[in-house]
Amino acid sequence: MPIQDLLFSGIERYHGAASWGRVLDAGTGDHSLSWLRTLDSKSLTLVTGAASRARRLEKNLRPQDRALVGNWQDPTLLFEERFDVVVADYLLGAIEGFAPYYQGQLFARLRPHVAGVLYLVGKEPLPATAPTEGGRAILELEHLRDACILLAQHRCYREFPQTWVHSSLENSGFEVVSAWRKEIVYGPGYIERQLKVCSNKLRFFKTAGLANAMAAHIEDLRARALVLVEIEGGIALGSDYVVVAKPA
Ligand SMILES: C[S@@+](CC[C@H](N)C(=O)[O-])C[C@H]1O[C@@H](n2cnc3c(N)ncnc32)[C@H](O)[C@@H]1O
Repeated sequence: MPIQDLLFSGIERYHGAASWGRVLDAGTGDHSLSWLRTLDSKSLTLVTGAASRARRLEKNLRPQDRALVGNWQDPTLLFEERFDVVVADYLLGAIEGFAPYYQGQLFARLRPHVAGVLYLVGKEPLPATAPTEGGRAILELEHLRDACILLAQHRCYREFPQTWVHSSLENSGFEVVSAWRKEIVYGPGYIERQLKVCSNKLRFFKTAGLANAMAAHIEDLRARALVLVEIEGGIALGSDYVVVAKPA
């Protein structure tokens, strides 16, 4: 089962028989929406910073649901609206792409919208070194992806540790009531998706020479990483976490 599905089923188990009510997906996408659509919610409100994503997702909504394009830096976004359940699924890591340096204010910004519970899903920053050859290939992949994003003069995502999340939540009017982690096992799909990000950035490079050299490097890493996934039966490295918080 993909790690995101494991994390979502853990949240569902934790939520138990409680009602879902009005749900806010504060950083929406295909995965969180496909999970949230399976729940018995009164309504779904999806927020994204990307208009194209909102347009795509709203095709799969019920009449009582809505997809909004906005930025949490905007104080008028969802002004005075409260939700029984707020989901922040990999939102924190993506903030750097839409609202640089805003991470420290994010939870205080979300706090007035949480009437019941906040479920936060995040990714632990990757370690500097890895114990297996496959793990080292994943580190190389992540560095290559970020290098391509920077050479395209775009912004990289930035992950934060679970310890940072706990203290930031507690400083923002929340109480952490539960948390758990899952080891990530990377498969071929993840490798292909990250390398696609790399290839998509090549057209923004300043010179064709640099783009061509990078394209060759991307293919080289693809071949090596896919073999290592096969040999190691999936590459285990780092972890994702879920933090459950309620208004203090
Ligand atoms: C990595 S995606 C989250 C994954 C998503 N839940 C899924 O299932 O695919 C990050 C989401 O947060 C949104 N986002 C990031 N920063 C934002 C901000 N400052 N304001 C509003 N949305 C933001 C992005 O537009 C995107 O919809």
